[in-house]
Amino acid sequence: MQVFLITGGAGFIGANFVAHLLDTYPDYRVVVYDKLTYAGNLDNLRAVWENPRFSFVQGDICDRPHVEQVVKEHGVDTIVNFAAETHVDRSILNPDAFIQTNVYGTYVLLEVTKDLGLERFHQVSTDEVYGDIPPGYRSREDDPLRPRSPYSAAKASGDLLTLSYFTTYQVPVTITRASNNVGPYQHLEKVVPLFTTNALEDKPLPVYGDGRQMRDYMWVGDHCRAIDVVLHKGTLGEVYNVGTGQEIENLTMVRIVLDTLGKPHSLVQFVEDRPGHDRRYAMDIQKIRALGWEPRYTPQEAVAKAVRWYVENEWWWRPIKEGEFQDYYRRLYGQRKVYRTGLE
Ligand code: NAD
Ligand code: TYD
Repeated sequence: MQVFLITGGAGFIGANFVAHLLDTYPDYRVVVYDKLTYAGNLDNLRAVWENPRFSFVQGDICDRPHVEQVVKEHGVDTIVNFAAETHVDRSILNPDAFIQTNVYGTYVLLEVTKDLGLERFHQVSTDEVYGDIPPGYRSREDDPLRPRSPYSAAKASGDLLTLSYFTTYQVPVTITRASNNVGPYQHLEKVVPLFTTNALEDKPLPVYGDGRQMRDYMWVGDHCRAIDVVLHKGTLGEVYNVGTGQEIENLTMVRIVLDTLGKPHSLVQFVEDRPGHDRRYAMDIQKIRALGWEPRYTPQEAVAKAVRWYVENEWWWRPIKEGEFQDYYRRLYGQRKVYRTGLE
């Protein structure tokens, strides 16, 4: 394991993982392969761009001949697949690209791994594949998958294809299923950066439904270390849950955002809910703990730390907020009913 193809490496988690690999392993080389969709951003890779062990190739994981060519040219031995369409709300508006990239694209990468005899294919997946989890229960890796949005259904398909290539062709695969990440370079469509930047501009924070949904907000650096551990110590053909093992309500997350910024709770607007909104995700993380990994931050600490990053890095988010994002924001939020404002 020495030459990595990091697909989707210009996105949020991929870019953090690229920096982690280059910092941690002085002999590893990294090739980022990314289509640069609306979510891909070369600013996310500024810190590693000049590193002689880093290269960037623009391309689509659905383009098999191109993926094969890049793998051969760079002598890639390991693929870590972050490339995906990732936002649930966009998957509700238009699922097409989700099926293309998250299902067909994963298939292409598995085929390339098989045909070129690569050392490892690692699939970066999500707790959303388990679906809505009732209070008191935590998902385990061998639980049935019950995805409920086009995004999570497409990710679940990618997971099942990955496992089928292990069973059928003995392709060396591993999978991690992570909870909601927060941290540097997360696209503004996701809740913590959206709420932080709206609050900084004294704009409303649109909380879906009653805001009592539960998510396990994890620091992105904890996720990167977990993928590293699974690559080096995980068992082939196995799935590992990655999270803090604790969940907080969205209302708690909102309070942390506003209180960290010293902004008033009156900025909160309760708006029409997301269709099919999962109330709770919660995972059992014993299996990855047994590999020696522990999260360093609680959800409360992770959210506050992420908020501070956006305060200090307006250079990064300002151009995104002023671009195409404004049309998207109007389309998703413009017609949404507002039920009430303020937290108390
Ligand atoms: P992101 O949306 O920030 O980035 C996705 C990246 O993939 C972008 O750079 C985009 O340009 C690229 N991409 C999209 N389609 C492509 C294609 N066809 N070919 C090549 N590149 C393509 O996503 P993220 O939040 O960094 O998530 C990365 C991975 O982690 C995804 O697989 C996602 O499902 C998974 N995940 C995310 C979270 C989270 O909280 N963000 C949690 C669990 C799992
Ligand atoms: P999100 O960041 O979209 O991640 P996911 O849906 O993949 O968990 O949303 C996190 C939580 O925040 C989820 O319960 C939906 C909620 N949410 C809002 O209340 N308002 C918003 O504007 C957004 C984007 C999300």
